Amino acid sequence: MKREQIPIPVTLPDIKAHAKRRARLAKLLGEGLMLLPTSHEQTRNADAHYDFRWDSYFYYLTGFREPEAVIAITLGKKPRHILFCRDKNMEREIWDGFRFGPMMAKEVFSFDEAYSIRELEAMIPDLMTNCDVVHTPLGADPEWDQTIARWINIVRSKVRTGVTAPVELRDVRHPINAMRLLKDEVEIDIMARAGKISSDAHRRAMKFAKPGMFEYQVEAEILHEFITRGARQAAYGSIVATGANACVLHYRENSAPLKKGDLLLIDAGCELESYAADITRTFPVAAKFSGPQRDVYELVLESQLACIKVVKPGVPFQKYHDVAVQVLAQGLIDMKLCKGSLDKVIETESYKQFYMHRAGHWLGLDVHDAGDYKHQGKSVKLEAGMVLTVEPGLYIRPADNVPKHFWDIGVRIEDDVLVTKTGNKVLTASCPKLVKDIEALTAP
Ligand code: GLY
Ligand code: MN
Ligand code: MN
Repeated sequence: MKREQIPIPVTLPDIKAHAKRRARLAKLLGEGLMLLPTSHEQTRNADAHYDFRWDSYFYYLTGFREPEAVIAITLGKKPRHILFCRDKNMEREIWDGFRFGPMMAKEVFSFDEAYSIRELEAMIPDLMTNCDVVHTPLGADPEWDQTIARWINIVRSKVRTGVTAPVELRDVRHPINAMRLLKDEVEIDIMARAGKISSDAHRRAMKFAKPGMFEYQVEAEILHEFITRGARQAAYGSIVATGANACVLHYRENSAPLKKGDLLLIDAGCELESYAADITRTFPVAAKFSGPQRDVYELVLESQLACIKVVKPGVPFQKYHDVAVQVLAQGLIDMKLCKGSLDKVIETESYKQFYMHRAGHWLGLDVHDAGDYKHQGKSVKLEAGMVLTVEPGLYIRPADNVPKHFWDIGVRIEDDVLVTKTGNKVLTASCPKLVKDIEALTAP
């Protein structure tokens, strides 16, 4: 069998979309040399490794998921897109699985040239020669920073031969962030599917959670839904927090037993085809909401719905956080958990005793995705194609100023929202959040 007939035993993303982004970036950067490595394999303990997760910037521009890879783009009128990757290695492939090797990778991933990663050291100083600007990640990985400096010094050592060395380093992540902020159709399609799988996982958890079970058993149900649907892992460590644990914002222990009627807060989203979903739902275990639980829940829901309403093109990112604060603060006053006028509660930030995080963040290849929140001191305005989370919450810890019936109630409701030309689309809309829909699943 000829090499070009060897079937590729790994799934491929939409390569054209990745190559198109690379071409756009090259145009945007104008001149110089662009260098971007993927991430390193990380040791977990002894000789075991964490599952390799490719760098999101690198993946965005390539669709290539192997470790030990670098892209170089010589910029200018006719950019050359060059991939450095691992060689084919039949011995290693018997142990660890398929590798593309430069020859096949060049064709499949639509590069102009591809070389063994072992050529990198010799070739990059040549590519840097007579090139003024190098566009590369700065300060992301000390080893890479040193490597870049070393290569520049190799070129500098030859300036007496009449060549010039780079004089400027620019962080290439900044222009890529701006691109990543506006999702293309391929990305939106993946994120909608990630949202649906994650919604179904939460629905499954609502039905499954029963008194006497442990939080990790509910986590297992969530992961089961993710993995059987082709999303091989969670986009971040799932939070499955019952009772007082729901008031620990990044609770990860997931080992407590569930009690009937206690609230269970689950913050879990899958990673599908490298894109994150990020959903939080809060529901009573095998019961209906109690009075105080319901009061807090309805308030968080009211604020979340009010936030989603203001997500549309032209509105500053900051706006929906302000809306969350307004609605929650008023509700806290009505429930006598905060004292004073709405203006006073907001000005003194006394609401922060119960609501201490932001209302959301960009979402994409990373759960807290790339993209600026401010531009020249002003909150970035929303545009069609941006995806963000909307996730207000209330976390009521025992305190002297809090009536006992509210103690240890923690509620967050989080959805993933795409900004559209006319407003927005909730990508996780199929995940129940109305009290009646939740109780239909959780009531014994
Ligand atoms: N799960 C992380 C977050 O909600 O931001
Ligand atoms: Mn979350
Ligand atoms: Mn989130």
